[in-house]
Amino acid sequence: MTKQRPLVGLICGSGLGLLADSLKNPELFPYADIPGFPQSTGRLVFGEMKGRSCVCMQGRFHMYEGHSLGKTTFPVRVFKLLGVETLIVTNAAGSLADGYHPGDIMIIKDHVNVPGLAGLNPLTGPNDDKFGPRFPAMSSVYDKGLRCLAMDIVKQMGVAQFVHEGVYAMVGGPNFETVAEAKLLHRLGVDAVGMSTAPEVLVASHCGMRVFGLSLITNKVVRSYDDEEQVNHEGVLEVGKMRSQSLQTLITQLVGRMDMN
Ligand code: 6GU
Repeated sequence: MTKQRPLVGLICGSGLGLLADSLKNPELFPYADIPGFPQSTGRLVFGEMKGRSCVCMQGRFHMYEGHSLGKTTFPVRVFKLLGVETLIVTNAAGSLADGYHPGDIMIIKDHVNVPGLAGLNPLTGPNDDKFGPRFPAMSSVYDKGLRCLAMDIVKQMGVAQFVHEGVYAMVGGPNFETVAEAKLLHRLGVDAVGMSTAPEVLVASHCGMRVFGLSLITNKVVRSYDDEEQVNHEGVLEVGKMRSQSLQTLITQLVGRMDMN
């Protein structure tokens, strides 16, 4: 049991769990002990960031692990019921955009939910009107005010040359993309691709939360048959460690400076 009633929720992506370790006065709840959570490693960490009460998922659930999208996004509804009003999500992603490099940070402006377009959507099924409407709009999901604030912070940190604003695509995984799939996503206007985030963001937006998202670019997606490079999971985690400090500073500053009701 915790007495904390956080207004901010965070979901830490692959290799980005350090953020949760920086919370002050932490209270820890392993997922295995929380009713309704997938039986999985990882934990909820409650604590303060810049004096503001936060709850953080250290470790998230992925569709490719075989969890239903309802299970994957269940923690977001728990956050809502705890009183969370702003959700911050991070992920590791491969870049498609020219000019992006491993170690760069992308502020998510919008997403393409590839499984969603094909009908794999956590909001499928009877709608629970207590959370939100049957047909939620998705044309302004990633809060503009928070994106602008993040850009200000990035400039003050002197890291603007590593930071972009772009479009994230979620694919189901667990395989990385074929060259043809990478070309397709690039032509669709996608800047970075990963295997998470869209379901949690959909559920958060549906229930009226303000959303902010960051991708850490861990590798370039191979878009040419002449390219000999191959992506691998270990490399993805390695880059996560390399830039996790800047990412952590950015989020900490954002949490400290954002408006609250
Ligand atoms: Cl290249 N693709 C996908 N789908 N997810 C990733 C990635 C690539 N790099 C990190 N995560």
